Amino acid sequence: SKLPSSKQFAQKNGYRFFMEKEIYEQSDVVSDCMLGRVKNNSINFDEIDESILDGINEIKICACGTSYHASMAATYLFERLSKVKCNVEVASEFRYKEPLLTNDTLFIVVSQSGETADTLEALKMAKNAGLKTLVICNVDNSSMTRVADATILTRAGIEKGVASTKAFSTQAIVLWMLSLYFAKIKNSISHDLIKKEINAIIQVPKVLIVENKLHEKTRRLSKRYLHGHGFFFIGRDVFYPLAIEGALKLKEISYLHAEGYPAGEMKHGPIALADPELFTIALMPKNTLYDKVKSNVEELSARDSTICSISPLEFELSDDFIKTNDRDHYMLEFFEMLVVLQLLSMEISIRLGNDVDMPRNLAKSVTVE
Ligand code: AGP
Repeated sequence: SKLPSSKQFAQKNGYRFFMEKEIYEQSDVVSDCMLGRVKNNSINFDEIDESILDGINEIKICACGTSYHASMAATYLFERLSKVKCNVEVASEFRYKEPLLTNDTLFIVVSQSGETADTLEALKMAKNAGLKTLVICNVDNSSMTRVADATILTRAGIEKGVASTKAFSTQAIVLWMLSLYFAKIKNSISHDLIKKEINAIIQVPKVLIVENKLHEKTRRLSKRYLHGHGFFFIGRDVFYPLAIEGALKLKEISYLHAEGYPAGEMKHGPIALADPELFTIALMPKNTLYDKVKSNVEELSARDSTICSISPLEFELSDDFIKTNDRDHYMLEFFEMLVVLQLLSMEISIRLGNDVDMPRNLAKSVTVE
């Protein structure tokens, strides 16, 4: 790509692309996002109060794209920690499916821009049906913040790269904090367990610091993934939405075909695609179903798929291996693997000579249907 102007160079603080700058900003903006919300082993949001769950028996989350992936991960946290029934819907589907809406549902929309047409209309549908509504958004005074009953801002700062990075990580941290805020209100889990979760949350900014060694590893590895007939990104539990997010990052900026899958789904058909030209990016966290994912990856390796495992644990069948740090909480592994996926897709896109910040056919905010 052409050399940046001096003004652009200054705006990017010397990074090659806004996306690279925004990946490196994640540590700081997630810290900003936690400011005033995590203190003395407790979670609080000035924007809402404990009455938000009055009369609520379920949570429905609605979003698009990367925001939908953060919302998918949240469904695991809300059910596991808040013990509230939770499901997530793609806004463009939700709008037209004649959904059954009951007013014991807290309706949450997640959006970086606060302007996505389908998400905004879904929010209006819920509001008109008399549901309590909450928006998690990065832009104050955006359309969604003017419709919802309450807004929690993600404080990610302006995100210029069309491919969302810090928008996702700040959404994920807000949703994790919110699941613990609800757990506190509902007394759904022990105070000790809440403390353990909070102790993990406060480590996320450190986990998001991009290690030069790791970045260099993804840059070197990226030369191997410039062709092939496709990528499977696979994971289990919250690493399934993370796998889908990793696949979207790659598609958006490299234009290579990639799919995110629950690791357990391989034998239900997709494994027919396995051959040396099919690259499997396997998320293999130590703290979540490691042995299950390992056996799924073994199935793919046995059928000759080229395996890139992302894990703190060595895996002998990996053709490539990106070693992550040994963390004692699966969500810390989640955030660390997120950075790996973001860097890998960016480095592949750079090698392909694409415009990382302004990928073809894409807009930063889809304000039309
Ligand atoms: C993801 O990298 C894209 N930027 C896109 O999928 C985006 O997440 C989606 O369009 C939703 O946008 P929003 O978060 O502003 O609602």
